[in-house]
Amino acid sequence: MKLCMIGTGYVGLVSGVCFSDLGNTVICVDNDENKIKDLNNGKIPIYEPGLEEVLKKNYKQKRLTFTSDIKSAVNKSDIIFICVGTPTKKGGNSANLKYVFNAANQIAKYINKHKIVVTKSTVPIGTGDILENIFKTKKKNKFVDVVSNPEFLREGEAIRDFIYPDRVVVGTNNFKINKTLKSLYLPIIKKTSRYVSTNRRGAELIKYASNAFLATKISFINELANLCEKASIDIKDISIGMGLDQRIGERFLRAGPAYGGSCFPKDTRALLDTTKKYNVKLSIVDSVVKSNEDRKKLLIKKTSNILNKKIYNKKITFLGVTFKPNTDDMREASSIPMIKFLSKKGAIIKYYDPTGFKNELSKFKNVFFSKSVNNACEKADLVIIHTEWNEFKLLNFKKLVNKKNINVFDLRNIYSPYKMKKKGINYHSIGRKLI
Ligand code: UDX
Repeated sequence: MKLCMIGTGYVGLVSGVCFSDLGNTVICVDNDENKIKDLNNGKIPIYEPGLEEVLKKNYKQKRLTFTSDIKSAVNKSDIIFICVGTPTKKGGNSANLKYVFNAANQIAKYINKHKIVVTKSTVPIGTGDILENIFKTKKKNKFVDVVSNPEFLREGEAIRDFIYPDRVVVGTNNFKINKTLKSLYLPIIKKTSRYVSTNRRGAELIKYASNAFLATKISFINELANLCEKASIDIKDISIGMGLDQRIGERFLRAGPAYGGSCFPKDTRALLDTTKKYNVKLSIVDSVVKSNEDRKKLLIKKTSNILNKKIYNKKITFLGVTFKPNTDDMREASSIPMIKFLSKKGAIIKYYDPTGFKNELSKFKNVFFSKSVNNACEKADLVIIHTEWNEFKLLNFKKLVNKKNINVFDLRNIYSPYKMKKKGINYHSIGRKLI
């Protein structure tokens, strides 16, 4: 099939590359000409394991092209995917849909025959209806079918998630269009996954409901971790003991810092905003958002307590600053509020992250990027393991820190409190305080 992806962020680029790998002809469009130039030169704008090889293979075989010329991309394609960002609006909770509407208006301007327009961007209930109206008003004589097909890709696992999805959700009431979408996904749904047909609003809500539920699971275990700390119970045992119940499931039950990333925080907020429109209450999601905000403050308090509230001039090291491993994404990473606070209090902060220097941290005073774990940890008063990159899983802190008193705050519960105690390290983790 002939496809066009509007927006070459995570969703558009990964989906476009993977669709081309399935044999489709895919044109990826972005109005950022530098990004398109880079992509045409084989430079990938995001860090996503495995993406580069698949991209280069399909680019070489001419199934995949990159352009800023939306007019010709729209003309040449049968199915157009809108994959632009829907960030939180400034000063509120609602999703900012200006990029989605802008894409729709552009499509409407250039459309020359019947097209299927698919929203892959995460959009609030009813956005498909608004898009349909845009097309109806602008192109009275040419019909466009608007479908919702949300993505569930995780950063760092996106290629795998695309090829082996748990489910593919398609929202449309049009039987024929549903059949077309189903045949597009056939190579991947044939294997293990399930194909869910629903109406357009249903598909839009499935995405928000899924992310809000996963965020709830994380916040639930994070709050239980607080209880475990007071009651001398290991939260990891609780996660295992609960997770083995198949009705609960073991995934997304790892206690840690506040959840972050480009989706959970923004989507939970946007879902709450939607409830206002329909005059209903989602008190659980409301609590989850609050709980996650509280968690950021709690981690700051815990860090300060480890240092006996004496932060000024203390050398603090962050191992990993991204919101999770295998991504270079800093969006809503809990490291940011922590570093902001510690820097304000006069700490000297070094951070090492396998994905390199971070612009997001450059505005804070006395915050330095280290090129290696060794360099970052040398003589640190406190080492904070923020992100569970594999390379942080077998560290010799005594050698690395090289001083008498070693303090480690492991936000991802990578190390054993018993073994660390045996080594004489002041080890702090999440929900695992020993008696
Ligand atoms: C998420 C959804 O998983 C994906 O389906 C959706 O399309 C986009 O949003 P992503 O943001 O890439 O994907 O990351 P994810 O792996 O879901 O992790 C989100 C946050 O939850 C991270 O901050 C992570 O550290 C945290 N997390 C996850 C936990 O704290 N504990 C867990 O057990 C799992």
